[in-house]
Amino acid sequence: MKRSFLLLYVLLVLELLDGALWAVEGSLHCEYLDLNSGSFVRPHSVSITEFGAVGDGVALNTKAFQNAMFYLNSFSDKGGAKLFVPSGRWLTGSFDLISHLTLWLDKGATILGSMDPGDWPVVDPLPSYGRGRELPGGRHRSLIYGQNLTDVVITGENGTIDGQGSVWWDWFRNGELNYTRPHLVELVNSTGVVVSNLTFLNSPFWNIHPVYCSDVVVKNLTILAPLESPNTDGVDPDSSNDVCIEDCYIVTGDDLVSIKSGWDEYGISYARPSTRIKISRLTGQTTSSSGIAIGSEMSGGVSEIHVEDVHLYNSKTGIRIKTSPGRGGYVRNVYVSNVKLENVSIAIRFTGQYGEHPDGKYDPKAFPLIEKITFENFTGDSIGVAGLFQGIEGDEFKNICLVNVSLQVKSSRKSPWKCSYVRGYSQWVSPDITCDPLQETIFPDHSSDCYGLKNVLQRSGSQSRRSWLLSW
Ligand SMILES: *[C@@H]1O[C@H](CO)[C@@H](O)[C@H](O)[C@H]1NC(C)=O
Ligand SMILES: *[C@@H]1O[C@H](CO)[C@@H](O)[C@H](O)[C@H]1NC(C)=O
Ligand SMILES: *[C@@H]1O[C@H](CO)[C@@H](O)[C@H](O)[C@H]1NC(C)=O
Ligand SMILES: *[C@@H]1O[C@H](CO)[C@@H](O)[C@H](O)[C@H]1NC(C)=O
Ligand SMILES: *[C@@H]1O[C@H](CO)[C@@H](O)[C@H](O)[C@H]1NC(C)=O
Ligand SMILES: *[C@@H]1O[C@H](CO)[C@@H](O)[C@H](O)[C@H]1NC(C)=O
Ligand SMILES: *[C@@H]1O[C@H](CO)[C@@H](O)[C@H](O)[C@H]1NC(C)=O
Ligand SMILES: *[C@@H]1O[C@H](CO)[C@@H](O)[C@H](O)[C@H]1NC(C)=O
Repeated sequence: MKRSFLLLYVLLVLELLDGALWAVEGSLHCEYLDLNSGSFVRPHSVSITEFGAVGDGVALNTKAFQNAMFYLNSFSDKGGAKLFVPSGRWLTGSFDLISHLTLWLDKGATILGSMDPGDWPVVDPLPSYGRGRELPGGRHRSLIYGQNLTDVVITGENGTIDGQGSVWWDWFRNGELNYTRPHLVELVNSTGVVVSNLTFLNSPFWNIHPVYCSDVVVKNLTILAPLESPNTDGVDPDSSNDVCIEDCYIVTGDDLVSIKSGWDEYGISYARPSTRIKISRLTGQTTSSSGIAIGSEMSGGVSEIHVEDVHLYNSKTGIRIKTSPGRGGYVRNVYVSNVKLENVSIAIRFTGQYGEHPDGKYDPKAFPLIEKITFENFTGDSIGVAGLFQGIEGDEFKNICLVNVSLQVKSSRKSPWKCSYVRGYSQWVSPDITCDPLQETIFPDHSSDCYGLKNVLQRSGSQSRRSWLLSW
């Protein structure tokens, strides 16, 4: 009897060490080319003032930005160029970036979004959405926009991009919008994108939206919008691959980071997944939504998502996966670790019936495949509900794993865990998992069913990928 216990113990410890080592060695990690060297050093630099811009917060500078881009385009085959925005308040409408460009916002520089919707042209909807996200038809183009670009850096010395979004929030609330609201920065079908060392304020809609992009770095940003501002998501990688989001402080009125890949039948037929995305060292607050979300638009598929070191306080939800019948697609191979939650209503949430469809043409039988999602090393204080796992009848979410999760739940009246149509494993979880479908232990039999705890992570990590900007 004693010997078999000892043997079991040794096996457990070996499994555990094994797991920890895999996790450390196999994790995706982001490495960058040095922005101060090589192709990032732009041989040509001009100031926006040379194009007649006036930084008084009143004069409209859209033409100056457009003319600067037109002029700097001639340097794109000569190492690219830097557009310097000095201290001042530079009011502008939407403008288009070019390849091989550094947009540099100096200390004290603020790019201000115009409050006239006429300064935000209406463009076609994204093919993976089929329409604007809020309203049928086109959508307002983002303040800073780029399409089919390569090698674009938006950075500086903590300069600010302020969307002055309150007018848009009011139009939204009063039903006065004619088209879907604009983002602050959107890059479409572009590769080699860096957004760093800046502050984003008051976006009309989402803040940063890379869509159909690869090799994207979002680093060291402060993103702020009022807690009650509608849909002011922080960073939304959408149908994009090889994305690193690091060292960001985000306080907004919606999800802080939300990974997406298109909407129902449009996303299914466009079929461009979001994959190889790493999110590290995210701190922030959202009283309406979640720290990290996947979906609800995920119809092109979402996979190989690694999240670590998240600190969320006074918020609604920690990590949330949102989907619906009709979405199709998949969410798989997601590993979330080292999460600290303070005063959060729901720590972990799966929503299988999110609803919201682009039109009546979606296929209600297009079920999403949700599997292999691991949550490891969570701590929480003043948590409302520990886990709310709602899958889809006839489409169970599989291999959901929780390991070393310790949440201090406020009220003992409600059940801390609720599960329907999900299946998975757990170990070292408190409060005790009270729902049957997640009760079976991970070690020793199921560690390979859990993403990130054994070989799966290592396999993806060892395909060490060298890309234009990042190496994993
Ligand atoms: C970007 O590329 C797409 C597909 O090749 C093309 O349809 C579109 O016109 C291009 N847009 C710009 C602004 O170059
Ligand atoms: C982050 O950005 C600030 C300016 O916004 C800069 O002073 C600081 O050095 C940056 N930190 C890192 C780690 O790059
Ligand atoms: C950058 O500016 C924002 C807003 O002004 C401020 O909250 C933040 O602390 C600044 N960051 C750094 C690193 O100076
Ligand atoms: C919507 O369209 C109407 C009629 O053209 C116009 O008066 C109004 O300003 C527009 N609203 C917005 C927010 O663009
Ligand atoms: C951010 O700013 C710091 C301090 O100037 C600089 O060392 C670093 O390279 C910058 N990082 C990025 C990614 O822009
Ligand atoms: C907890 O967070 C909520 C917002 O979600 C806030 O209203 C409340 O004051 C916070 N409680 C404490 C004790 O900080
Ligand atoms: C667990 O997460 C906490 C932060 O929430 C972190 O400080 C600690 O290092 C993590 N432990 C491991 C083994 O990763
Ligand atoms: C469990 O989590 C605690 C902190 O929450 C951390 O200190 C410890 O190293 C973790 N253990 C394992 C086995 O991951």
